[in-house]
Amino acid sequence: MIMRGIDYLGERIWGPDRYRRRYYKLAKWISAIKGFEVYKPQMIWLRDAEFVAAREEVERRGIEGVPNDRSYTLLATARSVRDIPGDFAECGVRYGKSSRFLLSGAGPQSTKRLFIFDSFEGLSDPGADDTKSGGGSAWVKGDLAVPEDVVRRNLSDFGDRVVLHKGWIPDRFPEVENERFSLVHVDVDLYEPTMAAVEFFYPRVNSGGVILCDDYGSADCPGAKKAIDEFFADKPENVIGLTSGQSIVIKR
Ligand SMILES: C[S@@+](CC[C@H](N)C(=O)[O-])C[C@H]1O[C@@H](n2cnc3c(N)ncnc32)[C@H](O)[C@@H]1O
Repeated sequence: MIMRGIDYLGERIWGPDRYRRRYYKLAKWISAIKGFEVYKPQMIWLRDAEFVAAREEVERRGIEGVPNDRSYTLLATARSVRDIPGDFAECGVRYGKSSRFLLSGAGPQSTKRLFIFDSFEGLSDPGADDTKSGGGSAWVKGDLAVPEDVVRRNLSDFGDRVVLHKGWIPDRFPEVENERFSLVHVDVDLYEPTMAAVEFFYPRVNSGGVILCDDYGSADCPGAKKAIDEFFADKPENVIGLTSGQSIVIKR
C-alpha cells in the first residue's frame, strides 16, 4: 500500500521512465552495501511478452524456484531451439518453476515433451567433490525435496507433454535411451548426478541443441562445475558461463 503510494507519486512527479531509473539508482546503492546487484530497468528481457506471461502464471500459482535472470535464460534458450528437432529433458525439478519456463519458451504451438528426472526425495548424498572452498558442503541428503503430486499439479496445464520419472539419477535414464533432445536442463546441485546427466544426454542431443546447467557458477555447488568442466574438457564444444550462474553448451 505504502509502496503503491510512493510509486504513484514518483511517476506523477518524474514520469514513469525517469522514476524507474531513479528507483533503480537508489536500489542499486542500497544493494551495493551488501554486495547484491539489481537489474537495470531498461533491460528489455524484463518486458519480453512471453517471459512476462510465463512469470505471471508462475506467480499466480505461487511456485517458488529460480530467480528472474535464470528463468529468462531458460525461456530464451528454449525459444532458440524451436527449430531443432528433439524433446526437452530436465534433471532436478523441485517445484517445477524452471520446467514452466522451458515449456513456455518452446512456444504455444509446441508439441515438444519435457522428460523430468527427480527423486522427489531431494538431493542425494554430497560427496568429496561437493565440498566448498572453505570446507563442508552447502547441502545434506534430502534437501530441496518436493512431493511428486505438487509438481504434477504445478505443471498440469501442460498435459501429457510433461513426463515424470521418479527415482535416483541415473536409474531411470534407460527409459529414454532411444529419444533425441534439443534441450537438456541439469539442475541437481551435486557432482555425481550432474556428471551422470551429461554423460547420458550429451550423445542424445541433436546438433544445435543446448545443454544448460543451472549450478555452474554457484559457490554452493562446486561439484556441478567440476562435472561440467571435466566432461567437456575433451569435447569440441566450449562451456559458456553466464553471469546468472548458469552455463550453456551448444552441441555441434
Ligand atoms: C535445485 S533443485 C531443482 C530446482 C528446479 N530446477 C527449479 O529451478 O525450479 C534440485 C532438484 O534435484 C533433485 N535431485 C538432486 N539430486 C538428485 C539425484 N541424485 N537424483 C534425483 N534427483 C535429484 C532434487 O530432488 C531437487 O528437486
